[in-house]
Amino acid sequence: MAAGFLAVFLVIIQIYRPPLENPPVTGEIEVSPDIGQVLRNSCYNCHSNETKLKWFDELAPAYWLVTSHIRQARAALNFSEWDKLTPPQQKAKLFWGLNRILANEMPPPEYSLLHPEAHLSTDDIDAIKRYLVKISPRNLSVKNGTSPAPSQKKDSSISQPLPTANGIDFIPDYQRWKAISTTDRFDNGTMRVIYGNSVAVEAIANDNTNPWPDGTVFAKVAWTQAADSTGLIRTGEFKQVEFMIKDQKKYADTEGWGWARWLGKQLVPYGNDALFTQECVACHTPRKESNFVFTQPLVYKKP
Ligand code: HEC
Ligand code: HEC
Repeated sequence: MAAGFLAVFLVIIQIYRPPLENPPVTGEIEVSPDIGQVLRNSCYNCHSNETKLKWFDELAPAYWLVTSHIRQARAALNFSEWDKLTPPQQKAKLFWGLNRILANEMPPPEYSLLHPEAHLSTDDIDAIKRYLVKISPRNLSVKNGTSPAPSQKKDSSISQPLPTANGIDFIPDYQRWKAISTTDRFDNGTMRVIYGNSVAVEAIANDNTNPWPDGTVFAKVAWTQAADSTGLIRTGEFKQVEFMIKDQKKYADTEGWGWARWLGKQLVPYGNDALFTQECVACHTPRKESNFVFTQPLVYKKP
């Protein structure tokens, strides 16, 4: 009896089908055929205008879920409308894509389960890495051989940098904070260290990081990558330091975080007016689930 109702119900819900269209391909990503094939197999069903649904994706309620995922995925990254991004944005998306593949987030595991053909082999991943290294500026700096030695005393000579347009004062203290992560962006040739203040460090120790408590401050410092004649990579010139300051009330308009960035050895505040924070928030929004913070601190679970 119950099974009968279920069957009738499943038939009826098939009637509600918000259409999923494949809009025209305006400008496809141009990569070598092998990389193109990998993206096609593993990403295009969600991140392109050439979506092909399997029969079981076509059945409601799976259909509703699949179509809403595809809309979100296309909005975040669309290989069929690649020409809408500037070259640095394209590189950043690819770099971020590799990160998400390595984090086992893309293709989403629940999707790979039903679509084994989307699974990426280690060879596929290596091919993507090689491709990204090839198009990265690091490759150029290695070819150029030596580069200037890093200057360690960079900001001690600066008296007090100007505040940012949204009224945040420079925080020289960050140099004494704890480094909680490092990242290496070979797409734009920088190395970064992310520091956390004592509130951040305590929050990590107590596994109390979502949301991060008020008073948390992160600093992210970027240097260019310099390569010596042997190709060894070390930090080159100081590029910038940026901050995220948690204060739910004070920074309610910018998702509870105060955003600030200073550029170059002269520590010039970034942003002509307070609207520069929109750029920060927009790029950090994919991390909304983790309170707009990308860095995932290690969590020590008691055995
Ligand atoms: C089953 C659908 C699906 C597949 C297949 C898939 N993704 Fe995604 N992807 C999503 C969805 C949904 C989002 C948006 C939500 C999120 O960020 O998690 C997303 C977001 C992303 C983002 C974030 C873009 C941004 O700037 O916000 C990147 C990068 C990404 N995917 C890369 C990839 C790559 C590379 C592949 C192939 C190896 C892939 N995805 C395969 C569904 C998919
Ligand atoms: C193009 C995308 C993008 C933009 C724009 C952006 N960020 Fe980020 N930000 C990232 C990514 C990705 C990370 C993770 C670390 C990494 O890969 O370097 C990050 C990390 C950070 C961190 C370390 C904490 C964390 O979330 O991991 C701070 C602090 C930070 N960003 C501040 C800013 C500020 C301030 C602005 C605006 C002036 C800004 N960001 C704009 C992408 C962006």
